[in-house]
Amino acid sequence: MHTTTALSAKTQYYLDLEQAHGAHNYHPLPVVLQRGEGVYLWDVDGQRYYDFLSGYSAVNQGHCHPRIVGALTRQAQQLTLTSRAFHSNLLGEYEQYITRYFGYDKVLPMNTGVEGGETAIKLARRWGYVKKGIPENKARIVFAKGNFWGRTLAAISSSTDPSSYHQFGPYMPGFDLVEYNDLADLERALQHPDVAAFMVEPIQGEAGVVVPHDGYLQGVRQLCTHYNVLFIADEIQTGLCRTGRLLACDHEHVRPDMLVLGKALSGGLLPVSAVLADDFIMMNIHPGEHGSTYGGNPLACAVAMEALQVLQDEHMAANADAMGQLLRQQLADLQSPYIGTIRGRGLLNAIVIKHPNPEAAWDLCLALKDRGLLAKPTHGDKIRFAPPLSITADQITECVGIIASALATLDELA
Ligand SMILES: Cc1ncc(COP(=O)(O)O)c(C=O)c1O
Repeated sequence: MHTTTALSAKTQYYLDLEQAHGAHNYHPLPVVLQRGEGVYLWDVDGQRYYDFLSGYSAVNQGHCHPRIVGALTRQAQQLTLTSRAFHSNLLGEYEQYITRYFGYDKVLPMNTGVEGGETAIKLARRWGYVKKGIPENKARIVFAKGNFWGRTLAAISSSTDPSSYHQFGPYMPGFDLVEYNDLADLERALQHPDVAAFMVEPIQGEAGVVVPHDGYLQGVRQLCTHYNVLFIADEIQTGLCRTGRLLACDHEHVRPDMLVLGKALSGGLLPVSAVLADDFIMMNIHPGEHGSTYGGNPLACAVAMEALQVLQDEHMAANADAMGQLLRQQLADLQSPYIGTIRGRGLLNAIVIKHPNPEAAWDLCLALKDRGLLAKPTHGDKIRFAPPLSITADQITECVGIIASALATLDELA
């Protein structure tokens, strides 16, 4: 089995509870967390860890950020949910705040990221019928291979990962796939007159932090404009300063027609997602045609405004940019034979493990855990390094020391 220090009785107790009573739809590292603050997490035995996953980039602002927690607790004592059957004093303020922040006419608030993606696709289909003149029920949406935008039936229908879609069919019709980072393939697909939108991650997160070539996003923008197709940027993982800019699209000064945000929109406190678009898209949807009981609830509005303000006030884009460069440089300086590739932007990074043992990435994550750093492999051989954006240079240096020590354990792995 895997090399790791023995688990405490307390840890084992919690693992056994989950094993016995929860669906086995995840394969977590054997660590049971009970407290978080900034870049750190603590387990039930009081061990401290650096968090190099940040809740898959939901915790960009750091764990339990005091200002965001303050906004949550204040609002929780006033009003938490009205449903959209009534107005609340916070919804309009939030809508004004976020549309000004990102420069779009309107926002449609939802909860989870995948609901944001579903919402964007519904808006695109509606625009396709009303404005582009696509015949009823013929609208097509184009996705890139390797995409990940969640686990609903629509999301898995666009997936190229068998563990996402296998034996969950039948699938959503009207979805097309193109190669990621391939403008010629995209152009071929967009020529179909019934295509309403291309939905794409500016950097593919779950696929293992796949960064497209410079100019790809500009090319996407030009092709979408040329073929009258909406460009939907799924910035749920890449947005909100994670890649060293407010949005990953900002690296190429590109403005998508629809922007989908989630995760760090609440700083990790509760599910808050949003679709931003201009009126020519958003005003095709009318009362009763889309919504969610929790979407735009006052608690979410208060938390999201504070989470966005913290990103700005604490210059998190600039810090992510600088710390990301430092991290990639220090990792490269290790010259480890087990690191095949180091890639990323800002603090969304991954290494690809090169080792004859296919379990090496998992074992490395166990060795990292034993040394006080939490990271998780994806697709077998890739490990994402994505700490909260408040991390300092000294902390990066300490973390690279931990990574170097853990990499050394791979010498003994057959
Ligand atoms: C790019 C991207 N889009 C959408 C989602 C789905 O978000 P959620 O898990 O909140 O539904 C994810 C989640 O990892 C994601 O990385």
